[in-house]
Amino acid sequence: MSVLIRGGTVVNADRRFRADVYCQDGKIKAVGPDLEAPSTAQIVDAGGQYVMPGGIDPHTHMQLPFMGTVASEDFYTGTAAGLAGGTTMIIDFVIPNPQQPLMEAYREWRGWAEKAVSDYSFHVAVTWWDESVHADMKTLVEEEGVNSFKHFMAYKNAIMASDETIYHSFKRALELGAIVTVHAENGELVYQLQQDILARGITGPEGHPMSRPPKVEAEAAHRVIRFAEVIGVPIYLVHVSTKEALAEITRARSAGSRVFGEVLAGHLLIDDSVYQNPDWGAAAAHVMSPPFRPKEHQEALWRGLQSGNLQTTATDHCCFCYDQKAMGRDDFTQIPNGAGGVEDRLAVLWTHGVGTGRLTPEEFVAATSANAAKIFNIYPRKGCIDEGADADIVVWDPAATKTISAKTHHQNVDFNIFEGMKVAGLASHTISQGKVVYADGELRVERGAGRYIKRPAFHPMFDALKKSAERRQPTKVER
Ligand code: URP
Ligand code: ZN
Ligand code: ZN
Repeated sequence: MSVLIRGGTVVNADRRFRADVYCQDGKIKAVGPDLEAPSTAQIVDAGGQYVMPGGIDPHTHMQLPFMGTVASEDFYTGTAAGLAGGTTMIIDFVIPNPQQPLMEAYREWRGWAEKAVSDYSFHVAVTWWDESVHADMKTLVEEEGVNSFKHFMAYKNAIMASDETIYHSFKRALELGAIVTVHAENGELVYQLQQDILARGITGPEGHPMSRPPKVEAEAAHRVIRFAEVIGVPIYLVHVSTKEALAEITRARSAGSRVFGEVLAGHLLIDDSVYQNPDWGAAAAHVMSPPFRPKEHQEALWRGLQSGNLQTTATDHCCFCYDQKAMGRDDFTQIPNGAGGVEDRLAVLWTHGVGTGRLTPEEFVAATSANAAKIFNIYPRKGCIDEGADADIVVWDPAATKTISAKTHHQNVDFNIFEGMKVAGLASHTISQGKVVYADGELRVERGAGRYIKRPAFHPMFDALKKSAERRQPTKVER
């Protein structure tokens, strides 16, 4: 099976140029002008369009068991929706229950993901600590290609990691050459604020952002970055939603710390007025953590992306339908936390990033695929249009328009947080593993065609970090 993408403008994170792209056996075989292809090759006319690396969404939760229910989007429907929007790879999360062996949870998630239609990988959460977790982290890194471990500072009495767990896990990750990732919200503060707000008789979705004010995120970001600095491990903060947390990242980076930040498309574009909606279902559909923020944070987050202090964009795609959200009808703390977006991320970021001049097309590629591929060590196999890379490609029509709606999206959820948003710039074709899987509005996916992508540990970078950590070790004074 071969595909020739003809007549487009290739955009990578570093440059753009006119070229054809020839794909064969799942790989990009040639990039250059006026390429020839066998008569059997499928031709994709990319005239007037951009040819970019397929999106990598580094933060999704397909069919996540969470808050007493299971996310409505599974690995089949979720990866298909991603392909319809030009996203060709997701990095999802294995989240063991406290006391559940990491390897058991990992096997469970690998089983669920077998129906995926695009490539995928897994971060693994460390939610508790003992010697078995220490051992399983090594197996995951060395045998299973996991190079990132997640820590939830929120969700008390569920998956929240204690400081002790974070300390041990960060040290172990550094030893193994893995990066640590963190959901930074102070879970104790959230829990106490939730009780206070319920006691005041506030039970609706408007209580959700009140229980998670920006300082709750800022405190956790500050503290966990300091943990990482003490231990010397690179850290990646997921879903940075406040100017205060961004300031913590910016400070740490300018002090030489290896700190990365991710921003969600939703946090860039939606503000906290959604929780004031008199329609309970619409307000509850936006209950996710961290919550949507007052408008001033959005401009700061855009500046974070523009300046490079935030490197990646994601969705935290974690869908719950109205019936599931209704579990919290009388108590906002019981509304399953999560919202969607895997299908819409590229279009909304193109429209509000490139379309407004905030981002160049090259910066768009960096923020939607290349930087995630670099940070999670799969570059240039992914995140780059070059000979030898995986043929995961989006042909992007900057002139195409649509209005986003739950009525027409492919996501398996009855709400869309971008409902009614007009976007300009859409995938006309998505190519996954060298096959055209989405063209002119039609999906042609094969259940189970997605592959698990191993991500190797980062030894050269970590060797240098370990040396600098050793230099800081106290030396014993002989008396
Ligand atoms: O509300 C959210 N974000 N749900 C998914 C779990 C998480 O915190 O990422
Ligand atoms: Zn989170
Ligand atoms: Zn998440």
